[in-house]
Amino acid sequence: MIFTVAIDGPAAAGKGTVGRAVAAHFGFAHLDTGLLYRAVGALVLKGAEPVAAARGLVPEALEQPGLRSPEVAQAASEVAVIPEVRAALLDFQRGFARREGGAVLDGRDIGTVICPEAEAKLFVTASAEARAGRRLAELIEAGLDASFDGVLADVRARDRRDSERAEAPMRPAEDAYVLDTSDLSIEDAVAKAVARVAARRPA
Ligand code: CDP
Ligand code: CDP
Repeated sequence: MIFTVAIDGPAAAGKGTVGRAVAAHFGFAHLDTGLLYRAVGALVLKGAEPVAAARGLVPEALEQPGLRSPEVAQAASEVAVIPEVRAALLDFQRGFARREGGAVLDGRDIGTVICPEAEAKLFVTASAEARAGRRLAELIEAGLDASFDGVLADVRARDRRDSERAEAPMRPAEDAYVLDTSDLSIEDAVAKAVARVAARRPA
């Protein structure tokens, strides 16, 4: 059985949370594609050349510590505008999407570029303020020093770069179900996503 759930949306909208829960519910594999760009961004911060880093990316690079930091997030969105970087990461993502047994991928361009044929597409979003508040809570939880205004500025800068780039800009696919989680609990967001995916599955 081949079945792809494409989840796109801006930073800290809840893509990963919803994606992991949907994958667990249906027994599908899950890939957070942001980690690929974060891993390349982390290598570039250490002095690597972006295209070479993307072409040489090994699975262990996705396990390295520090990938969730705000500095790595900005570096990720900077390397993500480079067409050759995106091209180097394409086959792995496409193969994952069409693997046997079902797959959930979350990112920015899954429903539009990586897997336009995905059986279910969600665009998970929330207000910039709600997203910055959630990301701030995560950073404080991790013991990092951060302010609401700083996180909000970071989120907005990344949203702008991600949606204005020429190559694979972030946007909802025409056939995506838009799920605004600004005023939803995690449980309610997951329930809506699961219902939407279930409706797309063959009986
Ligand atoms: O993957 P993405 O960056 O879109 O977001 P995430 O990592 O899934 O979620 C960011 C944070 O928001 C996490 O700490 C979630 O627990 C939280 N969240 C929330 O408070 N309410 C939701 N409806 C979804 C996520
Ligand atoms: O967790 P959060 O939503 O903050 O970010 P992420 O999903 O880990 O993605 C980090 C950065 O990678 C994004 O700001 C995008 O620039 C880039 N990215 C992308 O271009 N395409 C994807 N499919 C996933 C991430």
